Amino acid sequence: MSIYKDYIYLDNASTTKIDDNVLSAMIPFMSELYANYSSSHLMGKKVRNEIANAREQVANLLNADANEIVFTSGATESINAVLKGIVTNSDKSKKPQIITVATEHSAILSTCKFLEEIGVEVVYLPVLQSGVLDIANLKNVISDRTLVVSVMLANNETGVIQNIKGITKIAHQYGALMMTDATQAVGKIPVDVKDLDIDFLVFSGHKFHAPKGIGGFYYKQENKFTPLIHGGGQENNKRSGTLNTPGIIGIGKCAEISLDKMDQDVQKIKKLRDRLEQELLSIEGTFINGYSAERLHNITNICFPNIEADFLIGTLRNICVSNGSACHSELIEPSHVLTEMGVSISDAFSSIRFSLSKYNTEEEIDYTVRKIKEVITNFQK
Ligand SMILES: Cc1ncc(COP(=O)(O)O)c(C=O)c1O
Repeated sequence: MSIYKDYIYLDNASTTKIDDNVLSAMIPFMSELYANYSSSHLMGKKVRNEIANAREQVANLLNADANEIVFTSGATESINAVLKGIVTNSDKSKKPQIITVATEHSAILSTCKFLEEIGVEVVYLPVLQSGVLDIANLKNVISDRTLVVSVMLANNETGVIQNIKGITKIAHQYGALMMTDATQAVGKIPVDVKDLDIDFLVFSGHKFHAPKGIGGFYYKQENKFTPLIHGGGQENNKRSGTLNTPGIIGIGKCAEISLDKMDQDVQKIKKLRDRLEQELLSIEGTFINGYSAERLHNITNICFPNIEADFLIGTLRNICVSNGSACHSELIEPSHVLTEMGVSISDAFSSIRFSLSKYNTEEEIDYTVRKIKEVITNFQK
């Protein structure tokens, strides 16, 4: 395969290729082993055992117990289930409050906007220029009305990592629950729910080489929340609906592979990411958004001042990268993550996210660098 014909996929924070071993593990559950896991016949029993095994595999990845994992369709559903579930279960006599951060994913921000409409007070904390939450700001607003503090573990646009352990300690001091959207972190860096002492943690399969449409959340058994989806009482009454067996088998296998190969994958990807950054930073004026913060090893968000990211993305053709701007009814808005970090609107529109995976190669990185340098040189003529 020539890299000149095929895609160079550097958009792994959007979604990832399914690992071949994950796909092979899933196929029997779409062909021969299609029984409903709740059926009492032999095939149902076999499926039930395999689902239990997959739940263990996911729990191992998070250092959780299997009965603390709820499978859902992905991170968006998990976020809705946790935040709405906590609010619905809360004491209605005092105005409930949620604290989150302005740079969260739209799955959190839109759920919070909805909760505001039904009477919840939501505080959106600002971040420092590095993208990191200033914990002093949290201490200023947290109170005994705070139901839950929701802070993402790693940002999907910049890879900036938050101090979840420190934030959790403060939340707990005030009697609030702590939830983290760990969608970009799970399967890529060690995530230990016991060490974090977290109450709820959200994850999604398609961000780490499992299929789309499967994800879930971890919850501490003592935490009460009302289920979002009612029905047949599956998932211990926490999420009804017939289980997505192939998806669950896939995410289980993927969790096992990720845990096994994490150190090796991190080293490989980080080396490629550093190579890409070093080369692109040699272009005059470029800089990394969130550079001074601790960041995921697979994401870099680079600003190419005065060059529109949309133009660059269009010109790069088979190189798949992305920008964080969002289309709202024909109006293109700059990335809220970058503008919240104090990046100017013009620089936000000139920023590109490169997100790597274990499947990328040095050859692809070098080709990408060459291509970008070529486009920029031609643009400046
Ligand atoms: C940080 C973060 N949270 C939530 C989501 C939503 O995930 P899903 O596609 O599984 O609903 C994403 C996906 O873009 C994400 O990056």
